[in-house]
Amino acid sequence: MQGATTSITDPSGGNEPKKFTFDFSYWSHDGCKDDGTGYFGPDSSHANAKKFADQKRVYNELGAGVLNNAWEGYNSTLFAYGQTGSGKSWSMVGYGVNKGIVPMYCDHLFQQINQKTAEGSTHQYEVTFSMIEIYNENVQDLLDSSNSKTALKVRQHPKMGFYADGVKEVPVGSYVEIEQRTEEGTRNRTVASTKMNATSSRAHTIVCIKFVQKSTNDAGEEMAKTSVVNLVDLAGSERAESTGATGDRLKEGAAINQSLSSLGNCIAALADRASGKNTRVPYRNSVLTKLLKNALGGNSKTIMIAALSPADINYDETLSTLRYADRAKQIKCSAKVNEDPTAALIRELQEENEKLKAMLASGKVDMSMMEAGEGSEDMTDEERNQLKEDLENEYKSALEKNQQDMANMEQEFQKRLAEAQASSDFSDIAALNEKKKTHPHLYNLNMDPQMTGKITHIIDQDDEIIIGNGKCEGTDLTLRGLADLHCKIMHKDGVFTLETFPNARTLRNGKSVTSETKTLKNNDRLLFGTTQFYVFCNPNDKSESKVTDPTFEMAQAEIATKSGGFDMSGSNKSRDDAILQQNLIETMPGVEEANSISQALDKRKRFDMIIVSPEARGELSGRTEVMVKMTDTDTKHEWIWTSNKFLDRKCIMSEMFDKYEDGKDWQLPQDKDPFYDDPAAHTQIGCVKMWLQSLSYMLESNELLDVTDLKGGVVGKMSLGVFPCDPKGKEYTEKDDKFVENPDELMGKNIDFKIKLVNIRGLPNRFTDVYCKYKVYLEDKFTQTKSIKDTINPDYNHERVISLPGNKETIEFLKTGAFVVQIWGVQKAVKAKAGGKTKAVLSGGAGIHAVNTNQTKFDPEKVKFMMEVGALKKRQEKMEQKLAHMRKMIEVAEEHKKRKVSTKLIKDIYHAPTNDQAEKCIALIPLEKDTDDEGEGGGSKPVGVIPPSKQGEKGLTLKKSGSKKSGSSSSSSDSSSSSSDDEKKKKEKSPKQKRKSSPKSARSTKSTKSEKKSSACVLL
Ligand SMILES: Nc1ncnc2c1ncn2[C@@H]1O[C@H](COP(=O)(O)OP(=O)(O)O)[C@@H](O)[C@H]1O
Ligand SMILES: [Mg+2]
Repeated sequence: MQGATTSITDPSGGNEPKKFTFDFSYWSHDGCKDDGTGYFGPDSSHANAKKFADQKRVYNELGAGVLNNAWEGYNSTLFAYGQTGSGKSWSMVGYGVNKGIVPMYCDHLFQQINQKTAEGSTHQYEVTFSMIEIYNENVQDLLDSSNSKTALKVRQHPKMGFYADGVKEVPVGSYVEIEQRTEEGTRNRTVASTKMNATSSRAHTIVCIKFVQKSTNDAGEEMAKTSVVNLVDLAGSERAESTGATGDRLKEGAAINQSLSSLGNCIAALADRASGKNTRVPYRNSVLTKLLKNALGGNSKTIMIAALSPADINYDETLSTLRYADRAKQIKCSAKVNEDPTAALIRELQEENEKLKAMLASGKVDMSMMEAGEGSEDMTDEERNQLKEDLENEYKSALEKNQQDMANMEQEFQKRLAEAQASSDFSDIAALNEKKKTHPHLYNLNMDPQMTGKITHIIDQDDEIIIGNGKCEGTDLTLRGLADLHCKIMHKDGVFTLETFPNARTLRNGKSVTSETKTLKNNDRLLFGTTQFYVFCNPNDKSESKVTDPTFEMAQAEIATKSGGFDMSGSNKSRDDAILQQNLIETMPGVEEANSISQALDKRKRFDMIIVSPEARGELSGRTEVMVKMTDTDTKHEWIWTSNKFLDRKCIMSEMFDKYEDGKDWQLPQDKDPFYDDPAAHTQIGCVKMWLQSLSYMLESNELLDVTDLKGGVVGKMSLGVFPCDPKGKEYTEKDDKFVENPDELMGKNIDFKIKLVNIRGLPNRFTDVYCKYKVYLEDKFTQTKSIKDTINPDYNHERVISLPGNKETIEFLKTGAFVVQIWGVQKAVKAKAGGKTKAVLSGGAGIHAVNTNQTKFDPEKVKFMMEVGALKKRQEKMEQKLAHMRKMIEVAEEHKKRKVSTKLIKDIYHAPTNDQAEKCIALIPLEKDTDDEGEGGGSKPVGVIPPSKQGEKGLTLKKSGSKKSGSSSSSSDSSSSSSDDEKKKKEKSPKQKRKSSPKSARSTKSTKSEKKSSACVLL
């Protein structure tokens, strides 16, 4: 971060950093230290101290402006966008003394009010506070402690636009009251979320602070200046796009974070509008965008905070957040001051109510009235009709709302405030917080740190705390998803013992509780069932606990380590491993939960987590991913889902379970059922990876390769080969002599080869309509074989010729690259054999501890190595054959006391593709004229061979090392050359002779046998 610019560099290297400029860019990653009170301020000894932006600075530069706007009567909206854990809540709400914008805004607002009043201002100041949460398109009032799960309706008001009908707007008289209300809201949110097991990172929280200044103007009228400030802590952005990527049919219906996707769409549309396009803004597509409509495109000054995680594993998400913010910054809002005489406001409300009443009485719908704040171009016809239908209801509530507003305006604010203060008792919360400091207790751990510690249960002396789902009388701690009687904690003279009831799952520090491990220690992490994480805290336990401040991540990681054997330590991880670890931590508890819901609802499905390498998916690159396999326990059909698809569906499963627990109708039709997937869908059975190194020497490779499934298990054998051929597909034979010693020799030539996919043997019997598909090198379309029914041994006899240009990239690809054949099919329809209850079926298997540890069954590296070895072996055989011919040549030359052999003849022998041909060339040695131009030596000169690269065009003197190098010799070799050419043209006697050179024949010459050790391609 430099000034207002944020730069981001791809950790996988390569590109230039991408730069984004905003109004402000704040760095808070390092350069700070605890100032002794827990507050993070700049650390002057750190290089980034100047850069470090503490909470106060962010408030001064952003929040203070919002406060000034409020005094002037403008509406403001501040929303925080970013992935979970990136610091949205840190910036908006803050932690402890590191207060975020919301509390500082409220604090300063009251400070200024008090100051003004002290200075003798006659104005009246009224502050009201409300807090709502949007989860799965449901609006919950967080200040409603009655715990009724009834969602608030979002309605449209003729003047004010969209609003949450019936939301509690609590009058507040001081900052402390706001703090208490926020605490109350967060507590309600935690209780609701643990009850429903909502995934907190999918919820949006909106705090709304309404500030009204009443004064009397010169004309003696009472004036009201109103400012509404919305502070929006959005759901984790990681879900915004990933849901789209799962391609799951359930996505739309289930409205999984429809709000976040809609917000993105609205921002994009508004950005388009800002650049002059007349784009429709789809506010109506989600609850969040309805409620924020004013903030986004209407009467509000709006600030967006994009929270970024600097960790390299979050690069993709961080970049997408920056792009999102970049789009949002183009939006222009037009805010106006909201100041009117109170009497006029009341009159207006009255008039409007008269109109509404008249309309309701006549049954006539006045669209224009609704459109006043809407902008008709924002609506399609369909929406318009729908709107008409809804209008009557809207009128009724608008009427009520107007009446309520009038009453609020007319009623003395101080009276309302006093009532609100009297009806809430915050002393309980304060007392409990005090008690926690000295008393042993349990407190909840939540994936959202804001919600950790919000549920507490004190354990007194001689207490016996029964934990269960509340169905048994006498349950002390009721938690969702547990057994009726789950476990109990006993406290006797400072000793705390945990006992689990039969068939209930309780983990202590990641391990099942046994008689040896049942004594609880301070800071023990407990997991009841599959989702309820708690910490046992004993402030009186003076023994040193290894864990000082247990976190949710820590508790999850230790379960992953202990149940799956995964290394969850944070150190020395590559970026990909760290991403995998994060996925595991996210998915694993979900799998456990899905299995337990499946049992409870008897859905006859079992879930297992699998870790899938890119090879196993049939991809040549990419990351190892966490996937989830769903198995039908009756039909044994299997579906493999991406972890995102699974997590999205798990949310719907949780909702079903909530309804089931509440005794409501929980069943869903098949097309909405998260436990249902299409059995006739095409499924990837497995894949095969074929390395192409042999082709880089123009050698064939004909293999019988393991077909491996996503879990890395072997599920069949494929006969697959690549064969160098001519462009028409005629395979080269040995005598075509296309072998190259060095792949670089292919430069500039066309490389043609044939893929032969002969058959597969031994596929699992549950598939039919099996076909294969593959892409080679830069191909962008799959080539697909025919599909074969009802056999585990499909024969394809598929052949295809591929031509590649011999350039640097292709040659490099052949040397090191591969292609993957994916095998797909359809699961056979089976008559479901109804097994026992899901619970009985699952409890026998590994479903609950659903971690696949068999990923090492198939080792892709080993296959690569084997194929490399195969290619090298063939190459070496070729080389050995050449060497044998050379040795034979020397032998014959010496035998015939030859002093020289012509270069041409040496070349012919060297390049002879077959032994036969080499023999024929060697037979020409005695016939060559043995001239001795330089007259050096005589008789039986020792011979040697010069590396081909050093060979001249002319004849060479053959000599052993130590002898003087000869100059050029002029042996006429034309005759031998023509004769060897003739040889080449002659047809082989047996055209079907195997191309593959036989090691036996290559080594049949004496020299190879006797000097095998030196045959390792010395010269080549
Ligand atoms: N700027 C910061 N300085 C110190 N800690 C931070 C900062 N931003 C976030 N954190 C810590 O990171 C964790 C996740 O932050 P949080 O604001 O809860 O994320 P989000 O709301 O985006 O999911 C919290 O424990 C918080 O204390
Ligand atoms: Mg948060």
